Amino acid sequence: MANPAPLTITDLVALKKAGRKIVVLTCYDALFARLLDDEVDMLLVGDSVNQVLAGRETTLNATLYQMIYHAAAVKRGSRRALVFVDLPFLTYQVTIPEAIRNAGKVLQESGAHGVKLEGGRHMADTVRALVEVGIPVMGHLGLTPQSVHQLGGYRVQGREPVTAGRLLEDAKALEAAGACALVLELVPATLAANISKALTIPTIGIGAGPGCDGQVLVLHDMLGLNEGFEPKFLKKYGELAKTVREAARAYAAEVRGGRYPGPEHSFE
Ligand code: KIV
Repeated sequence: MANPAPLTITDLVALKKAGRKIVVLTCYDALFARLLDDEVDMLLVGDSVNQVLAGRETTLNATLYQMIYHAAAVKRGSRRALVFVDLPFLTYQVTIPEAIRNAGKVLQESGAHGVKLEGGRHMADTVRALVEVGIPVMGHLGLTPQSVHQLGGYRVQGREPVTAGRLLEDAKALEAAGACALVLELVPATLAANISKALTIPTIGIGAGPGCDGQVLVLHDMLGLNEGFEPKFLKKYGELAKTVREAARAYAAEVRGGRYPGPEHSFE
């Protein structure tokens, strides 16, 4: 269909109700946003940008302005897809007024549709307050990368009955607080499927099996640009690192050999 209407937040629950899987990729710039906009339902400006593009060890030192910068670029490059932005560590956990001010700033300055934040029951009041002032919120449970040190690494969460039960309660609390969707990261497939069935809002899985209502991957990982990163859940849909290396090698050889630029690339 030519030029389908831009998606809205209410479409998320409608897609789940209709049994249509929700397709999400991370995106950090306008160029990729233009390429992806027709193919996906949501572009997630994840704080993974701090690792993937900025080369840092964790997401913990991503800043609000870094997120706004990337989110504004993604918004400029997109038309149809929803754009959600991660709230960085410590921009929403300290006080609720601070969370409202920071999330509001993200929406005002980037034009994005909503924010994502990490945490379960203990974040429910914050989610409720954000939603009450009109800021759509997506939750994030399971492996929450901003708590990587507390969790002891990037590992599957909710394997034990007690922790599985807690995750289900957290998911229900976020839904009751008004979250419009929920990322489930590194959660056993059966638990993720059960959580998805228990909620009316959609779950978006990453390393959480096929029972989620949608899937998200980090764009640069699924394009095969992030060499050496090969977790079990990742499927690579391209081998772009190889393509980039080959192109750079061919360019270098032609420049060094005096074959580029040729007359067709030169001005009289
Ligand atoms: O930061 C991020 O990219 C994310 C996704 C992996 C869900 O939170």
